[in-house]
Amino acid sequence: MSDLDPWEQHAGWWQEGFTEGADPEYEEQIVPLVRHGLAGACRVLDVGTGEGQLARLAQRLGADAVVGVDPTTAQLRAAGERGGGPAYARAVATALPVRDAWFDAVIVCLVLEHVDDHVAAIAEISRVLQPGGRLLLFLNHPLLQAPGSGWIDDHILEEQYWRIGPYLVEDHSMEEVAPGVVLPFIHRPLSGYVNTLIDYGLVIERMEEPAPPAGFVARAPEYEAAATIPRLLYLRARRT
Ligand SMILES: C[S@@+](CC[C@H](N)C(=O)[O-])C[C@H]1O[C@@H](n2cnc3c(N)ncnc32)[C@H](O)[C@@H]1O
Repeated sequence: MSDLDPWEQHAGWWQEGFTEGADPEYEEQIVPLVRHGLAGACRVLDVGTGEGQLARLAQRLGADAVVGVDPTTAQLRAAGERGGGPAYARAVATALPVRDAWFDAVIVCLVLEHVDDHVAAIAEISRVLQPGGRLLLFLNHPLLQAPGSGWIDDHILEEQYWRIGPYLVEDHSMEEVAPGVVLPFIHRPLSGYVNTLIDYGLVIERMEEPAPPAGFVARAPEYEAAATIPRLLYLRARRT
């Protein structure tokens, strides 16, 4: 079984639960940040596009050319069926089938934590961006959502706190994110991302750590006590 097979198997789970308005974190956080970050963008590449929800958004926002790439055929099939204008190609983030310096915006949303070689992926993203072009990068928060992290309600010591799991250790694991849905995740420290962006000429100009949105907490009341702990990290960087 290759690393990509779990995504083929569970593409339907992603499409049903996280796209087309189904997920409060997309609707209340990611979509507004992408709208803002893409203002004025003409040529947009969406790396790890899934079923294309952010590629379609880029097209609706008025980009001239939008391309989505993903290695999972079940995602690309849905993207094709959902239409909306973008062109799609099957590719991994570490070998983008596009020419140098062609895009003025690249979106990478909740993808790099599934890519073994994030350095090669960021090198590719940098290669395809025009000087002055922007990267919109969304990650599961690498610090606060490290494996083993979570809310602790200690009834003996009468303490409540957010525990951080082993942070500095790069960790490759298969995580059960829903009953029967097991996907590959890679945890790496935040510096692993930030320093690689810097190494490839991507200067961070904005960082957001939004609180879990109301719609998410309404569905996951167990997270209410941890409402000050972000799940998402957004970095906007500019190609020098
Ligand atoms: C959590 S989904 C996010 C999809 C989309 N970016 C969105 O925001 O709706 C992660 C996607 O990453 C894709 N993926 C997995 N490994 C990848 C790789 N090596 N390169 C590019 N995409 C990959 C999966 O096929 C899946 O569609």
